[in-house]
Amino acid sequence: MTNVTPPDEALPFPAGFTWGAATAAYQIEGATDVDGRGLSVWDTFSRTPGKVRGGDTGDVACDSYRRYPEDADLLGALGLSSYRFSISWPRVFPDGAGRLNTAGLDHYKALLDALAERGVSGAATLFHWDLPQALQDRGGWASRDTALRFADYAAVVGEALGDRVERWITVNEPLVVSHLGYRTGVHAPGLADEAAAAAATHHLLLGHGLATAALRAAVPGTPVGITLNLTPVLVDPNANGSADLLERARRVADATHNGVFLEPLLHGRYPEHAPPAIVPPAELIRDGDMATISAPLDFLGVNYYRPQHLRAGDPAHLRLREFPPVPGIEGGVVEYYPEEMELTNMDWLIDPDGLYQLLVQLAADAPGLPLYITENGRAAEDYLNPAGQVDDRERVKYLHQHLEACARAVGAGVNLRGYYVWSLLDNFEWAYGYQKRFGIVYVDFPTGRRTPKASAAFYSRVARENAVPPLPRSWPA
Ligand code: FCB
Repeated sequence: MTNVTPPDEALPFPAGFTWGAATAAYQIEGATDVDGRGLSVWDTFSRTPGKVRGGDTGDVACDSYRRYPEDADLLGALGLSSYRFSISWPRVFPDGAGRLNTAGLDHYKALLDALAERGVSGAATLFHWDLPQALQDRGGWASRDTALRFADYAAVVGEALGDRVERWITVNEPLVVSHLGYRTGVHAPGLADEAAAAAATHHLLLGHGLATAALRAAVPGTPVGITLNLTPVLVDPNANGSADLLERARRVADATHNGVFLEPLLHGRYPEHAPPAIVPPAELIRDGDMATISAPLDFLGVNYYRPQHLRAGDPAHLRLREFPPVPGIEGGVVEYYPEEMELTNMDWLIDPDGLYQLLVQLAADAPGLPLYITENGRAAEDYLNPAGQVDDRERVKYLHQHLEACARAVGAGVNLRGYYVWSLLDNFEWAYGYQKRFGIVYVDFPTGRRTPKASAAFYSRVARENAVPPLPRSWPA
């Protein structure tokens, strides 16, 4: 069992802990047709009727391409030490490769300078899903060539911005790209093609490995890592007589959610327990690929939103809050939402202890590897009240509980170096459009006006004190 926090003590973080906020280019920038930017797959996808809720697109978003000094002001005023943003590949290479658009690089230089003036450092993600459409037209991540072009892009960006960036993240959540983009098609590029998804898995990893080498050559000494969305798989310890079945199911689910990216990165192999359909076929894997992919990481970025709980059950007769498990699991096992746990308005389970379990597990799997939470947060029904404030107490509670879990993990010896809240701003939440608000700063989309929410004040206090206050005995309603 997990330790229980003594209720009356603030939990400190180590000196120098990074406190940050995260965003991604397509979700906040807007200005999709200025200064020579090329099309991305998300432009194409969001402009296709029926793909994004309400027909929303990133055309304007938070207008951060123009309003970045204001965003930098917010980060500075909150006392955060780092901003995780992403670089739009089609701003730098409008055709994905070949012709360089220096205006694209200039924008990120200006952003990084604005951050530096306010004492905020920059953690840059090279690929947060906005693949140049021109590369998609040649197969996208299903094609090996995209991984090579990604390395070219990394080299150019590293060269141009290397003196300004504190830490590089190659790829954000490759699982979401291959699974939602290529297998189920609910994200750009909208394919539903199992073989393309498995190929994308390998080429995203290869792209990461090649980009890592390119960055290390361009900017020796600057840490390079990758960000994975990780889903701890937790089994009901009280299940009677089904321990072996549940353990087999746990391994398959863990390989599906985590191992398919984590094992190649950490150990240079695809996981043994993964369903065969999701594992890249041997003919795609060339000599040297697995060594490129498993070049030692300087850190691992972890995005945590929710775990998966499994228990014995009947997938053919699901009960309330039960779901079929992932493919490849033997009968007799279901996913479920534990009764006492609430959901966010994405219908995502809220389970802060899942984060603790995940961090402790990672520390065991990759001893000593520096970890950053590169995203964590929740959507809520936020609104400006008549006093002009956003009292998002559900988000305050969520952050408080998850930060407490981080502090506990640090106390248990996990090498956690920093935390980035998702997100600085309400923004374009992919297929959900603008309906789902994740920001600690409220954005009035018609005007672009920004209003820090109650959660921003809470988070700012944690960052300034470098400690999380004790959990209250009861939460305000
Ligand atoms: C993650 C994405 C991020 C954001 C959050 C809610 O999967 O990396 O862009 O959409 O989910």
